[in-house]
Amino acid sequence: MSEQKLYMPSQTFIENAEIKDYQSLYDYSIENREEFWNTEAQKLQWVTPYNAVFDYSEKPFFQWFKGGKTNIVLNAIDRHLHTSCLNKLAIIWEGEPGDVRTLSYHALNREVSKFANILKAMGVRKGDIVTIYMPQIPELPIAMLACAKIGAAHSVVYGGFSVEALAARIDDAKSRVLLTADGGWRRGKITDLKSIANEAMRRSPTIEVCITVKRTGHEVEMENDRDFWYHDLSALPIASAKCETEVMDSEDMLFILYTSGTTGKPKGLVHTHGGYSVYTSTTHRYIFDIKDQDRYWCAADPGWITGHSYLVYGPLINGTTIMMYEGAPNHPYPNRWWQMIEKYGVTILYTSPTAIRGLMRFGDNWVKRHDLSTLRLLGSVGEPINPEAWRWYHSIVGGGRCPIVDTWWQTETGGCMIAPLPTTPLKPGSASKPFFGNVVKVVDDGGNDVEANEEGKLVITHPSPGMARTILGDPERWAQTYWSEFAEKGYYSAGDSARIDEDGYIWIIGRLDDVIKVSGYRLGTAEVESALVSHSAVAEAAAIALPHELKGNAIHCFVLLKQGKTGSRELEDELKNHVAKEIGPIAKPDSIAFVDSLPKTRSGKIMRRVLKARAQGLDVGDISTLEE
Ligand code: WT7
Repeated sequence: MSEQKLYMPSQTFIENAEIKDYQSLYDYSIENREEFWNTEAQKLQWVTPYNAVFDYSEKPFFQWFKGGKTNIVLNAIDRHLHTSCLNKLAIIWEGEPGDVRTLSYHALNREVSKFANILKAMGVRKGDIVTIYMPQIPELPIAMLACAKIGAAHSVVYGGFSVEALAARIDDAKSRVLLTADGGWRRGKITDLKSIANEAMRRSPTIEVCITVKRTGHEVEMENDRDFWYHDLSALPIASAKCETEVMDSEDMLFILYTSGTTGKPKGLVHTHGGYSVYTSTTHRYIFDIKDQDRYWCAADPGWITGHSYLVYGPLINGTTIMMYEGAPNHPYPNRWWQMIEKYGVTILYTSPTAIRGLMRFGDNWVKRHDLSTLRLLGSVGEPINPEAWRWYHSIVGGGRCPIVDTWWQTETGGCMIAPLPTTPLKPGSASKPFFGNVVKVVDDGGNDVEANEEGKLVITHPSPGMARTILGDPERWAQTYWSEFAEKGYYSAGDSARIDEDGYIWIIGRLDDVIKVSGYRLGTAEVESALVSHSAVAEAAAIALPHELKGNAIHCFVLLKQGKTGSRELEDELKNHVAKEIGPIAKPDSIAFVDSLPKTRSGKIMRRVLKARAQGLDVGDISTLEE
């Protein structure tokens, strides 16, 4: 896996980079963690200064910038209206059919204020949780910012998720208000979000108001008294373009974002205004070496944490011009992205290994037809990047001149925890070094550091400002899942296995728990299993991940049918589609095998490890706890 060749940044890159010497600032940030974060926090606006940078009196519940008052929108929009950013482009958006919308910071402020006033008129108050289920259209970040502006928390559900996933998230957050769209464009087809939303609302009764943005214009079912068109509301006097930004406590909830864990119930991670603002803007500025003239494209969907932190909040706080694209990278042809980079003069591209592998498959010529000379930096996120894809990205897309920042982090950490700076010598496939303020270790089960190059558990020794604060409604689960394994040492358990080489480069190996990364998306085996069991023919199910060339991992399932049911090709297809309909197309299993029994421990837990080894033709290992 590891490779000897070091990729060095060019001399011009080093000369122009904001941080030239990673090591000395890193050392400083570890020895003076609070001072380091204080300096960064001072670059943002605070209505009232904080009185403590860090407070850890109630472990593992920490606070950053305690007592400070601000609002992320104050820093992401309001302050830019008094600078040269005012008429700078905030968002360049291209729809899949080719329509274009651009919003300056001034225009973004107007749109966000209007949306915010509409939400207020619909009864949304500070502290409410608003669920957002939208395609990649400008209204998605606008709706997020509008919630934040009035002090409501948003819970964005990825537009690729389906009925049960959406319903479960609405229920858990007890949202009264749902913001959606009639649909979006994907590979020339309409994704019918409003129909999915309607079915989810039938399953989760808390929604009283649903506001729908018209995107595709196809006919959708609207219910009297509950459903409103956004364009109707925005034509009313309530939708004024002036709206005060609510002053929030540093530790007030900014958003919740659900992610998969080991149980079927997704965790709603709580992120806050103060620390998250500081962490996302600092990491974005340093890791991407942001310049005023950059056109920065994070190709992630805003419905995932990457989109929250590095498409919306971090870049906007830094006054960056961001690109957004609605549809598929290969529609109508595999050069769609390259065409857009050339057309808009994109300087930074941040995407996932899966997307890179997917585009690599179409060959070099689709890329080489385009002038990509504006690109100066590339990024990767979400899963380990294989050296072959890394080298293709580096030489073909980046023309050999762009550093690649391979960033490791999680929904839980809010921002990049491990990443090279663009001036760091690079080893393809390694996320390189910890970001400032973070100490990252690889330890054994006892919490002791393992030797160089030895595999172990990835831990972070200290809370960082961008980390989630808790799990919505379940603080016990927060403490248990992340902070209990090495409680004595106070380490955060990431749930990943990794190794650190003799040069201190960190190599991520994969998940240690029942989380599967499919195409960089995070899913729990338990979610797939419970979707299968919700089908009338299924008694029990087990899901495992097996390596897949394009997707990184693919889902394979083992199903035990109910008495009297027999497995068939038709039933296999039906079950695959059932999972896709309940959770979303990303969760669709690659294969389903019908079995007579599932390997279980005496306490009844399915031994997925055994299934996995069997499926790969490997030794099943220690099965002394196996029941039969
Ligand atoms: C898991 C977190 C990072 C935001 C998007 C994913 C895996 C993430 C990398 C990377 C190897 C990575 C880990 C992690 N992961 N980035 N650069 N190299 N693995 O956030 O959906 O919460 O998933 O993604 O396994 O634990 P997420």
